[in-house]
Amino acid sequence: SWTMLNIVEDSVEAVRRQVGEGRAICALSGGVDSAVAAAIVQRAIGDRLTCVFVDHGLLRKGEAEQVERDFVAVTGVKLRVVDAADRFLKALEGVTDPEEKRKIIGREFIRVFEDEQRAIMADGPVDFLVQGTLYPDVVESGGGTGTANIKSHHNVGGLPEDLQFKLVEPLRALFKDEVRRAGEELGLPPAMVWRQPFPGPGLGIRIVGEVTRDRLALLREADAIAREELSRAGLDRQIWQCPVVLLADVRSVGVQGDGRTYGHPVVLRPVTSEDAMTADWARVPYDVLSRISTRITNEVSEVNRVVVDVTSKPPGTIEWE
Ligand code: XMP
Repeated sequence: SWTMLNIVEDSVEAVRRQVGEGRAICALSGGVDSAVAAAIVQRAIGDRLTCVFVDHGLLRKGEAEQVERDFVAVTGVKLRVVDAADRFLKALEGVTDPEEKRKIIGREFIRVFEDEQRAIMADGPVDFLVQGTLYPDVVESGGGTGTANIKSHHNVGGLPEDLQFKLVEPLRALFKDEVRRAGEELGLPPAMVWRQPFPGPGLGIRIVGEVTRDRLALLREADAIAREELSRAGLDRQIWQCPVVLLADVRSVGVQGDGRTYGHPVVLRPVTSEDAMTADWARVPYDVLSRISTRITNEVSEVNRVVVDVTSKPPGTIEWE
């Protein structure tokens, strides 16, 4: 729209004034906020912005490609991709505790990003760090609303404060829906612009048990099927998000064809919510659940049971870990 166009142009102009002839770096997460922030800064300063995408191997099907290929094609952004899956998996070996997983993923992310930062600075100084901070984040961190720290919500892409950078925060005045509209205005891939909330630690906290490459592959397939069927049923905007959780340490007996199976369950966790602080379980139509269940058990070997989580938040949280 006309107003959105103005908002985008104004923030491009503001970034241009702030950064001047300087250089900036930005960590892309695959989410909409960092993508829109980076696209605005790219418009303002071109290839004096370098984006870094740390692929931790915990993203969903197609998400890394969206960043590496589609986002770059649309924005022309200068991007360094680090395929760090091996490193993250190694660090997560043997780890089952949810908070420990978050800590490890956050720590590895910062290490990888700092290595990239050093490499970028070999070409000349960098003074600015781009962050996709939104208006509600600004209010929340200044307002002291006192939310209990039940899970350490480490946002991969959220960086330590002692980095010696000035922050560029082009979304500071915007709400989420405005960021999405700005993303559309900038021509970003719709799947990126309309992505439902997805935790920074990614699929790492949706495998109950140790995170391994094989388990990630299973979960990625099951998740892709659930997303595809929910979208096809037109439920994307009604559902806040639908984590798919692999109970990797649980097995149950099943039967398929003539054979007994002994596989893992996956949990569907569709919720409705306004702000993720509270949530209700979403009443997904039975025929949609049925299609998801049939497809997952047919198409994902080793998964022989699909269950639906019907717990509100509280007492349950949205994610299982
Ligand atoms: P819970 O599970 O606490 O989740 O009800 C509330 C919202 O936060 C997301 N979430 C996270 N986001 N890092 C993130 O960036 C995290 O460690 C994390 N844990 C939960 C969750 O997907 C939901 O939208």
